[in-house]
Amino acid sequence: MELRVSSRRIFRPLLALLLIGCAGVYSAANAQTQPKAPDTMEARVQACAACHGVHGQGTDNDYFPRLAGKPADYLYNQLVNFREARRRYPPMNYLVTYLSDDYLHEIATYFSQQRPPYPAPATPTVSTSTLARGREIVLNGDASKQIPACAACHGKVLTGMQPAIPGLVGLHADYISAQLGSWRSGTRHAVEPDCMHTIATRLTDDDVNAVASWLSSQHAPQNPVPAPAGSMKTPLACGSEPQ
Ligand code: HEC
Ligand code: HEC
Repeated sequence: MELRVSSRRIFRPLLALLLIGCAGVYSAANAQTQPKAPDTMEARVQACAACHGVHGQGTDNDYFPRLAGKPADYLYNQLVNFREARRRYPPMNYLVTYLSDDYLHEIATYFSQQRPPYPAPATPTVSTSTLARGREIVLNGDASKQIPACAACHGKVLTGMQPAIPGLVGLHADYISAQLGSWRSGTRHAVEPDCMHTIATRLTDDDVNAVASWLSSQHAPQNPVPAPAGSMKTPLACGSEPQ
C-alpha cells in the first residue's frame, strides 16, 4: 500500500498557491489606484477556497480535506500546528506563517459553522473482507492489538466530538491514509499525549487501507454535528481534547 503522496498531489496544490500568490502581487500593484478591499470573512476565505471550497466542503482532489462542520477548536489547533510545523504541508505552512491567533480563531469558527452538503460516499475498490476489517476496527477496535474503536472518540456516527475531535465522515480514503501514515512516520504531531500517534503506530498498512476504505464509503448522518463535549469518555488521553 502506498502511504506517500504522489508528486501530482503535491504540485497541483502548489500551482493553486502560486496563482493565489500572483493574485496577491497583482492586487498589491493595483493598491495605489484602487481602494483597499475590506477585511471581510469572505475576502479571507478566498485564499482557502481553491483547495477547500468556499464553504470548506472540500474539492474532488483526494488530498484536500473537508473543513466544514469540524469542531472550531480542532480546526484552530490544526492551523496552529501548521504554523508551528507540527504538521507539514508547504502551502499550508506558508499561508498561516504570519497569521495571528485571533485571525486563526475567527477563520476556524467560520468553517466550523458551515454546513455544505457532503460528497457522495466513495464506492469501495477493496475486497469485502478488507471492508469488514475496516468496519470492525472503526466500530469495535482490535483488543488483541490494543487498538481502541475509532468511534469511541470520533463518535458512533463519525462526526467527532466537541471541542477538538474531528469528524471522519466525508473525507477521502487517500487523505485518511496519508494522515495515519504521517502520524506513523512522525511528520504529523498533535499536542502530547498524542493519542493518534499511539493508535496509528498499532495499525498495519493493511489496517490503514481497511479503515480508510470503509470510512470513505460511509454516508453522513441526517444531522451531521459533532457530539457534545464530554459525551464520550475517550479510551486514551489526548493532549488536544480536554479530559
Ligand atoms: C494549495 C491548497 C491549499 C490552500 C490554498 C489552503 N489549504 Fe488548507 N490544507 C490543504 C491540504 C492539502 C491540507 C492537508 C495537508 C496535510 O496535512 O497533509 C490542508 C489542511 C488544512 C487544515 C486541517 C484540516 C484537518 O481536517 O485536519 C485546515 C484547518 C486548513 N487546511 C485550513 C485552511 C485555511 C483556513 C486556508 C486559507 C487561509 C487554507 N487551508 C488554504 C490545502 C490547502
Ligand atoms: C482516544 C481518542 C481517539 C481514538 C480512539 C481515535 N482517535 Fe483519531 N483523533 C483523535 C483526536 C484527539 C484527533 C485530533 C488530533 C489533532 O489535534 O491533530 C484525531 C484525529 C484523527 C484524524 C485526522 C482527521 C483530519 O481531518 O485530519 C484521523 C484521520 C483519525 N483521527 C483517524 C482515526 C482512526 C482511523 C481511528 C481508529 C483506528 C482513530 N482515529 C481513533 C482521537 C482519537
